Amino acid sequence: MKFFTSFLAATSLVLPALAGMGEILLPQPGTQISPGASFNFSYEIRGDYCTSSYAYSVYLITDVPTSAAPSDVFMGGYFFGRFDAENYPAVPYPKNPAPPSLTMPDFSRPQGGWGAGQAVSDKTFQLAVLEEWDGCDPTGPIGRKISLAAVPVVYNATSKGA
Ligand SMILES: *[C@@H]1O[C@H](CO)[C@@H](O)[C@H](O)[C@H]1NC(C)=O
Ligand SMILES: *[C@@H]1O[C@H](CO)[C@@H](O)[C@H](O)[C@H]1NC(C)=O
Repeated sequence: MKFFTSFLAATSLVLPALAGMGEILLPQPGTQISPGASFNFSYEIRGDYCTSSYAYSVYLITDVPTSAAPSDVFMGGYFFGRFDAENYPAVPYPKNPAPPSLTMPDFSRPQGGWGAGQAVSDKTFQLAVLEEWDGCDPTGPIGRKISLAAVPVVYNATSKGA
């Protein structure tokens, strides 16, 4: 009983910090996603007591940024959208909740206008979420803090994985 009580005390101390970590729940790491296929998406925002989540942007990163220096090609990929999720008091009513699934672009098709497509197979890309948040502790970076979460996904896999 003593152990159980102290376990509960320890858990209740830990839980508020664990709730809302800014985590990509779906897709799971290593998920194979075909060009043009829809895939389930789920992101757990950071919202918590003393932590507010304002919005999060979802990208597919095909080429990771190498530096913060201005450049013609900072990174490669695709922008799925900027969404928000309920967390009181910052966002009592989400204006643009993320859909339960997103559609993987077919990069072999022309990307619109002059944009040429490229066919590739078996590429590991990062599905990434940049979340804008802030806390009640007035230290750290000025303005909204921006966190990054990412999971690797396999685009146009040639073999069926587990
Ligand atoms: C996506 O989620 C729906 C509903 O939970 C489920 O029926 C479906 O099998 C999922 N699709 C994939 C590709 O995991
Ligand atoms: C997917 O990979 C196959 C080869 O395995 C290739 O023929 C095809 O063009 C690729 N598709 C896309 C959309 O890149």
